[in-house]
Amino acid sequence: MKDKLAIAVLISGRGSNLQALIDAANHNDFPARISVVISNVPEVFGLERARKAGIPALVVNHKDFSTRAAFEDALMLALRPYSVDLICLAGFMRILTPHFIQHWPQRIVNIHPSLLPLYKGTDTHARALADGQREAGCTVHYVVPEVDSGALIVQARVPILPDDTPQTLADRVLAQEHILYPQAIAQIAPGLLKALEVRR
Ligand code: GAR
Repeated sequence: MKDKLAIAVLISGRGSNLQALIDAANHNDFPARISVVISNVPEVFGLERARKAGIPALVVNHKDFSTRAAFEDALMLALRPYSVDLICLAGFMRILTPHFIQHWPQRIVNIHPSLLPLYKGTDTHARALADGQREAGCTVHYVVPEVDSGALIVQARVPILPDDTPQTLADRVLAQEHILYPQAIAQIAPGLLKALEVRR
């Protein structure tokens, strides 16, 4: 049986969650290696992080395509040479449609900065504060066509403090994201590796 998953990480920005995955994958016992990083936005810092780690770092700029399907076709073409087992969305800010998702059933995961099913979408921290929540957090979940709605894998919780702003809360949650994402991959890897073996 294959001992490590080949993963692709899709990003749109600074890539601090990508960095957490790169750091985790540097440990021998982590059950995944990052085969490729793809950004839909050119020149973002996450691409530099990947290159510094010796990982192929590509851009598939969504602005170069007139439809979502054409963008997703280009993404699939870019992924093909890397034979990836799992796709990790890490601050990837494009909605993927069934056109793409159907090719990767239960094999795309995302990290989202809220305690799903609360606060799907954007501005999660400002909305949690506006609602007077006492707790916030982050979730790793499978990606399905309905945004931020797939089965939950793991969550981490943080308290909301009286003086919190969206930024201070985002910082506290982000620190947990960096722990949670590698944990989630480690948790699902054995089952996925077994399933891939059966299909071979
Ligand atoms: C992270 O907080 C991640 O949870 C969020 O974007 C940030 C990316 O930061 N993702 C989403 O909101 C997806 N809906 P990073 O580029 O430093 O990893």
